[in-house]
Amino acid sequence: MINEKIETLLNEIRNAKAGNEKEVEELRVRLLGKKGEITGLFDEFRNVSAEHKREFGQKLNSLKNMAAAKIEELRGRVAETSDRKDSSSDLTMPGDHFELGTRHPISITREEIISIFRKQGYALAEGPEIEDDHHVFEALNFPPDHPARDMQDTFFISSGVNPILLRTHTSSVQVRTMETRKPPIRVICPGRVFRNEAISARAHCIFHQVEGLYVDRNVSFADLKQTILIFVREMFGPDTKIRMRPSYFPFTEPSTEVDISCNICGGKGCNICKGTGWLEIMGAGMVDPNVLEACGIDSKEYTGFAFGMGIERIAMLKWQVKDLRLYFENDVRFLREFETSI
Ligand code: PHE
Repeated sequence: MINEKIETLLNEIRNAKAGNEKEVEELRVRLLGKKGEITGLFDEFRNVSAEHKREFGQKLNSLKNMAAAKIEELRGRVAETSDRKDSSSDLTMPGDHFELGTRHPISITREEIISIFRKQGYALAEGPEIEDDHHVFEALNFPPDHPARDMQDTFFISSGVNPILLRTHTSSVQVRTMETRKPPIRVICPGRVFRNEAISARAHCIFHQVEGLYVDRNVSFADLKQTILIFVREMFGPDTKIRMRPSYFPFTEPSTEVDISCNICGGKGCNICKGTGWLEIMGAGMVDPNVLEACGIDSKEYTGFAFGMGIERIAMLKWQVKDLRLYFENDVRFLREFETSI
């Protein structure tokens, strides 16, 4: 009797299947639970005659071990398949989409500007964003009552003799460079600048500039013109023309504002250039002798030129971005448009 039951149970255990955790538990209770079939056999075992006890004892023990092993095996398998429903542990499922970032259009433009000037022998120079009045205004020949020092343009951090402020232009790096280096100086200074302006499609209180400075013996306005021409042709295309309009900056004399021929209509006039055929891209001029002297450079021996441009503006013209605020909102739909420009 017992022998037969053992044989049937062995068969059953060999072929046992379970679809989920609950079925495994049911099987365990049915075989090994307090009132389970194998447990029942151990009860019957007491009635087995002494001569067969050894033989049945061994059989019953191995049956119990097999059942326990099978239950463990089924439990493991059920756990594995339920895990698999979670795609992260199924190695055959396609991987999760990996988001690749793109470089910001301002970074792309800044790197392009730097690399064009690097080819012309310019080294990189940087300076602090939190500056003092001396480096942003005084050494750059700003008269004490110049409107740019006004609270409307400048974020002041402290007041007093030499107030601490957020730099309003990267020309402060010109000063720092000339104060610490001897000519010949040829530097390009990219950086973030701050102006107390209302945010609109065309203005922001934070933006980026690139300043250029060249100081040596016999540096002339013609050198400035040629340097800018090389730059705009690389940046906007080989047919780009430049136009220099007289202007005023306290730190350059003579001063000029540089326009390029409109890269959209080729100079014929369109809504981007407002029908003029020209787009303003930078301020420039010969470094004022007062600035050279304020920085410890002999203005009788040396001359120099400087130029400064807004990176946002260059990027706007290059890609026809209509609203400056887009650069600061970090909307990935906008940023992804520059993916192919890397
Ligand atoms: N610093 C000027 C500005 O912010 C630009 C400039 C730089 C003009 C160098 C002339 C020479 O507008």
